[in-house]
Amino acid sequence: MARARKSLVVLTGAGVSADSGVQTFRGGGGLWEGHRVEDVATPLAWARDPRLVWRFYQLRRRALRSVEPNAAHRALAQLERELAARGVPFLLVTQNVDDLHDRAGSSVLHMHGELVQLRCERCGAKVRELEHLEPEEYVPCAACGHARVRPDIVWFGELPYFMDEIERALLGCTHFVSIGTSGVVYPAAGFLSLARHAGARTWVNSLEAPENLDPRDEFRAGRAIDVVPALVDELLREL
Ligand code: APR
Repeated sequence: MARARKSLVVLTGAGVSADSGVQTFRGGGGLWEGHRVEDVATPLAWARDPRLVWRFYQLRRRALRSVEPNAAHRALAQLERELAARGVPFLLVTQNVDDLHDRAGSSVLHMHGELVQLRCERCGAKVRELEHLEPEEYVPCAACGHARVRPDIVWFGELPYFMDEIERALLGCTHFVSIGTSGVVYPAAGFLSLARHAGARTWVNSLEAPENLDPRDEFRAGRAIDVVPALVDELLREL
């Protein structure tokens, strides 16, 4: 029987950006420790108290200016370049709304949206900008003149982006890597088992074992900046 053509899918979560100084969501000092998800990350919260929600995301947008990609982001960008040169299909998917993969040079699918992108709540027009960062001032829509755009973030209760493309890649991949995610928020938390059931070899990096870890996964405990560059070397030998 012919061997399946090799391909790789990598999923990242908040842990990949932790060493750049971006707060994770869960665990000591995590973003959700100080906020109730229902107050800042749902469509209902935006309808009920847009000022609170806007302020929350404006502060996070502003924080992007003071962080830089780290060795894990850079190693994944290098991996993408090397695999492209070899013609090996590769897909990087992130749950993160920061722009650190992009700035490291990766092409990445932001399944939960992006802080640099705003979307008009009325006409849907999107604008990429990190200039209007005043927490107390809304940004008007340049396309339709509506007084208020919203963050282009996928909130709880909304459908993640790019799901068809991601599922196609997962079902066809031979190698899958999960980095820095606690494996509790679906559908992303289901990607690991989907890839495993599709026959892929699976690696997981995180500080502690995530919820969705299985004994068949190769678990590499530790900080992404320490683990990912070596894992990338290993993947390049495999692929
Ligand atoms: N290196 C590697 N992993 C790390 C590091 C690090 N330096 N620091 C923390 N981690 C790991 C933690 O052990 C944990 O498993 O990263 C994970 C972070 O988990 P969460 O804070 O739950 O983040 P994430 O899984 O990305 O959250 C998923 O939840 O609230 C939503 O939409 C939000 O996209 C987010 C989703």
